Amino acid sequence: MSNMTIRPLERADREWVAHFLDDRWGTTTIVSRGKMRYGHLLEGLIAVREAADAANADKNAAPPERIGLLTIEYDAKECEILTLDSLVEGMGIGSALLDALEERAREAGLTRLWLVTTNDNLASLRFWQKRGYELVAVHRNAIAAARRIKPQIPITGRHGIPIRDEIELEKRL
Ligand SMILES: CC(C)(COP(=O)(O)OP(=O)(O)OC[C@H]1O[C@@H](n2cnc3c(N)ncnc32)[C@H](O)[C@@H]1OP(=O)(O)O)[C@@H](O)C(=O)NCCC(=O)NCCS
Repeated sequence: MSNMTIRPLERADREWVAHFLDDRWGTTTIVSRGKMRYGHLLEGLIAVREAADAANADKNAAPPERIGLLTIEYDAKECEILTLDSLVEGMGIGSALLDALEERAREAGLTRLWLVTTNDNLASLRFWQKRGYELVAVHRNAIAAARRIKPQIPITGRHGIPIRDEIELEKRL
C-alpha cells in the first residue's frame, strides 16, 4: 500500500488503541505466559494511511487513518509481540508492521522476537511460520491459568477446537 506509513505508538493513540482492542478482542487486557497487561498502555507500532488529498498539502485534508496495530513488550535482549491486527487484510499491513519491528529490534541490538498464540489459531501458525518464526515450545494447559486472570477466554476457539495450550514461536535476529 503506497500511502501507508508505520510509526511508533504515541500517548495520543491510547484512547483509540483501547477502543480498538476492545472491539477486536472484547477486552483491553492481554494475558500471555501467566502475565497480564493493559493493551492500551503498551508500546508498539501503528500503520496509518494518508488521505489522498494530504499529498497536496491541503490543510482541510482528513487526518491519517489508523489501519493496523502491533503491540510489544521488550527488554535489552528480547521483544514479545503481544497483539498484531490489520484492518484491511491481505494488503501487506501485517507484514509491514512486522518488518518495521524487526528492523528496529535489530538496530536496538535485540536478538529474539517471540510471541505466543493459542492451539486453535491455525491461521496464525501459518502466518508466523511463513514469516520466519519457528515453533519452540508448547505450554500445555497454559490457558487454564490464563483464564484465572481473564475469565472471558472462551472454552472453545476457532474451528470448534478447545483452547488449551499456548504455542510459543520465535525469530532469532
Ligand atoms: C494476521 C493479520 C494481522 C495479517 O494482517 P494482513 O494485513 O492481512 O497481513 P498481510 O497482508 O501482510 O498478510 C496476509 C496473510 O495473513 C493471512 N491471514 C488472513 N487472515 C488471517 C487471520 N485471521 N489470522 C491469521 N492470518 C490471516 C493471509 O492468509 C495471508 O497469508 P499468507 O501471505 O501467509 O499466505 C490479520 O489477518 C489480522 O488482523 N487477523 C486477525 C487478528 C489476528 O488473528 N491476529 C493475530 C495473529 S497471531
